[in-house]
Amino acid sequence: MRRIGILTGGGDCPALNAVIRGVVEKCALEDIEVFGFADGWRGALHADGRVLTLDDVEGIQTLGGTILGSSRTNVMKTENGPEMVRASMEKLGLEGIVAIGGDDTLGVANQLFDMGMNMVGVPKTIDNDLSCTDFTFGFDTAANIVMEALDRLHTTAYSHGRVMVVEIMGRHTGWIALQGGLAGDAHVIAIPEFPLHIDDICRIVTERKERGKRYSVVAVAEGATIEGFHVDEGELKKDAFGNAALPDRAIGHKLAQEIQRRTGIETRDIVLGHLQRGGSPSAFDRVLGARMGAKAAEQVISRNYGCMVGLSATKIICTPLKNALSTRKEVDAELYEVAKLFCR
Ligand code: F6P
Repeated sequence: MRRIGILTGGGDCPALNAVIRGVVEKCALEDIEVFGFADGWRGALHADGRVLTLDDVEGIQTLGGTILGSSRTNVMKTENGPEMVRASMEKLGLEGIVAIGGDDTLGVANQLFDMGMNMVGVPKTIDNDLSCTDFTFGFDTAANIVMEALDRLHTTAYSHGRVMVVEIMGRHTGWIALQGGLAGDAHVIAIPEFPLHIDDICRIVTERKERGKRYSVVAVAEGATIEGFHVDEGELKKDAFGNAALPDRAIGHKLAQEIQRRTGIETRDIVLGHLQRGGSPSAFDRVLGARMGAKAAEQVISRNYGCMVGLSATKIICTPLKNALSTRKEVDAELYEVAKLFCR
């Protein structure tokens, strides 16, 4: 009997379970058994996990998070890491691994593939900033959570005549802040890709007040570029992949203080944080995850390793894993211009 492994690495994301089910269901049609590694690459290093049956995956596309658990374990930073993964695969009789993750997890998969281990990648991040796919699953859910949060914040901001600064996930790109901010009628949207000046942010807020608007909502991505405003980075902690953990930056809180100082308008801030990643996925994400999972299984079935699945227009496609990691997908100017029309 053929057997493969599957793992979910990096920050979790709604619809990971839909992908897992897609892989298991499709593989079952060809009598391929799927071994689910516990906690991403950690499980792959230690051959830790369990076989996933059809019973195990029934209905799981409705659940948030990942039934396998996740971690940011970096195989390449572990002594003899690649050899340990190879040994796990041999011990468990796995011919390949479906790695579901962001650029870090898939970067490891790509390096292991170059070392002769069979890998198929599935792109995952709520940030939506991986290339070779139009959307990543989880992004739609996160953007909807942001939209719903903004809908709620409008009313309390109105009641008190305040500026409400909302910090939204997105260290390198502003997809969630832009999508959620545009849908949820933010009056200012600050993202990493298109710098905004602090003077312009304060101008919009002040002009709104002069026009008789009682309040303003400011959507700011974690990694937003704001000119004329210095955010003390504090002591940045790094994860095993060297990513800066931005929470110390607290851009939303500092921006709120600066807006209040400059405009004299009472300002509050809120960090949406991991609320954006938790809970059940949207219909769009459940279906996208299921389709990507099934497509990844097809690659296993036909032994087409070294590729990553992705969405292109309405079709699920495959690209070489190494291409997928080459560039970060940033918010495009046309979309940003539409958002700007609404920001006033
Ligand atoms: O990359 C996904 C993401 O949710 C980012 O938007 C965020 O900056 C980061 O992960 C948070 O990571 P952690 O869950 O490790 O705090």
